[in-house]
Amino acid sequence: MEQGSLSMKMIIGNWKMHLGIRESVAYARGVLHITVGHDVLPEVVICPSFTALSEVRKVLVRTRVALGAQTMGTERFGAYTGDVSVAQLDDAGCGFVLIGHSERRAMNGETDAVVNTKMKLIAQTSLVPILCVGEPKAARDAGNAEAYVIGQIHEALRGVTLSSSSRLIVAYEPLWAIGKGEAATVADVVAMHTAIRNALKTLYKTIALQVIYGGSVDGAHAYQLLREQSIDGVLVGGASLKIHEFEAIVNAGREVMTAQNI
Ligand code: PGA
Repeated sequence: MEQGSLSMKMIIGNWKMHLGIRESVAYARGVLHITVGHDVLPEVVICPSFTALSEVRKVLVRTRVALGAQTMGTERFGAYTGDVSVAQLDDAGCGFVLIGHSERRAMNGETDAVVNTKMKLIAQTSLVPILCVGEPKAARDAGNAEAYVIGQIHEALRGVTLSSSSRLIVAYEPLWAIGKGEAATVADVVAMHTAIRNALKTLYKTIALQVIYGGSVDGAHAYQLLREQSIDGVLVGGASLKIHEFEAIVNAGREVMTAQNI
């Protein structure tokens, strides 16, 4: 996929610390139900809690819905009580992993250096990183939003070897829009996505790059976001836990892909 080319839209559900194993399985079946029988379908990924990964995987085998994890450890293996390595996520059937989600940056000490370590570990596997970046309100108010976000990306990718076969998803999630019920404006998102693409163009010539948006995405305005060429998809938290909202978002992706002949 060339940078800037029209790519399939992508919808990622981040369930955060919600749902037990049985609920997760039931919900995953609900997501499958949304996706079956459609020729045109965005790429759909769901990210349950670690405890539910293996049971949800069974539900998703041979379907068009992929499995993702919400985080990973910083070491390959060893005496790291409570951590889960990227190899273990691979083993559990994950194709994707969220890295540097703002909640982990804020509450779990996930610094730029930690994010960078994780990106290097993932680069040695077939998992696809969903690198989460986003500026705090103060940076936006000060007019530094782009510099802040591009800085996070440079730190995350420092020394990371990406080849033309590598796939990278950057999720732009402004902190002030996450879980707040009010998303960033489409114009702000488009401007940031363009800046991200430009920054990565100078870092890597051709990688399979997708830039997606997250922060209070719901069924009501997903179409407005997804119809923009520079918005390859959405990362959905709260609304991914309401099946009708999630369905509306997936359907918005289908409508856009149909209208744009993607
Ligand atoms: P939200 O969360 O959709 O509830 O704002 C998005 C996220 O945290 O990834």
